[in-house]
Amino acid sequence: MRRLTIVAAALALALAPIGCGKAKSAKHLIGFSQCNLGEPWRVAMNAEVAARAKDFPDLEVAFADAQQDNAKQVADVENFLRQKIDLLMISPNEAKPLTPIVKKAFESGIPVIVLDRAIEGDTYTTFIGADNKQIGMAAGAYVAKILNGKGDIVEIKGLPGSPPAQDRSSGFREAIAAYPGIRIVHDPVANWLREEAMAQMESALAAHDHIDLVYAHNDPMAIGAYLAAKAKGRDGEMKFVGIDGLPGLDGGRQAVADGKLSATFVYPTGGREAVDAAERIFKGEKVPHKIVLPTLMITKENALAAAGK
Ligand code: FRU
Repeated sequence: MRRLTIVAAALALALAPIGCGKAKSAKHLIGFSQCNLGEPWRVAMNAEVAARAKDFPDLEVAFADAQQDNAKQVADVENFLRQKIDLLMISPNEAKPLTPIVKKAFESGIPVIVLDRAIEGDTYTTFIGADNKQIGMAAGAYVAKILNGKGDIVEIKGLPGSPPAQDRSSGFREAIAAYPGIRIVHDPVANWLREEAMAQMESALAAHDHIDLVYAHNDPMAIGAYLAAKAKGRDGEMKFVGIDGLPGLDGGRQAVADGKLSATFVYPTGGREAVDAAERIFKGEKVPHKIVLPTLMITKENALAAAGK
């Protein structure tokens, strides 16, 4: 009798996964908290995540858009945690306000992939993004070269609490520090946005009779500055340099090909790499704590080849 019970129990156990198959979804649910979808670069990142996730039938991605609002992004993550996601992917709006919720998710045992904008500390599984300090330095070196070491610059800055804005500024300033003839004469904040950059550039144009170059922390702001200068008939007086280098007709690569920008620096979204890292984590593999993505300088010489890609 006892033997029979054991056999029955073993049989029940062996059959259990078949019986339970329907109740528990076979998919791994990823919650992806995006800081905003108002900028083309963010739309491209989401598209990359969605496209790559399709290659893995075990993955399902839920998307949330925080609309550039730190409090909404915290609420979005709280919501994901209530939904019992298996992994959190997040591109934080600003570092400081998003750090506690990322820490909370990570410390509750959920793997966390932080994308492009860092948080404070290191309570996450992996950070994926390009090196913004290095991009800023490369931009500074390029600018010093095309200005022959002399000129007045307007620097248009991204959202101050987002680390890429800080690093793109400090890297740039370090690189031009060797050239006393180069001065930053105006450095407004335009929060990554084209329209705000247009308004800020109007003030810069009013305040300065001559500007040699505009360095903007992303391409939408560089294009905004270009449009403001063009509206005043002053676009020919100065050069424009941006960052992002998105492909496609509205992207920075095309703007370089069209001669609106002198250069841009490719800032990969990391969407594909993030999905690949998630898949590896689900398989139980170890991923590096930091994955640094490459950049590429785009000038007229390589813009046409790169624009369609
Ligand atoms: C989009 C964006 C990009 C920029 C990145 C920096 O929100 O502003 O244009 O390269 O964020 O985090």
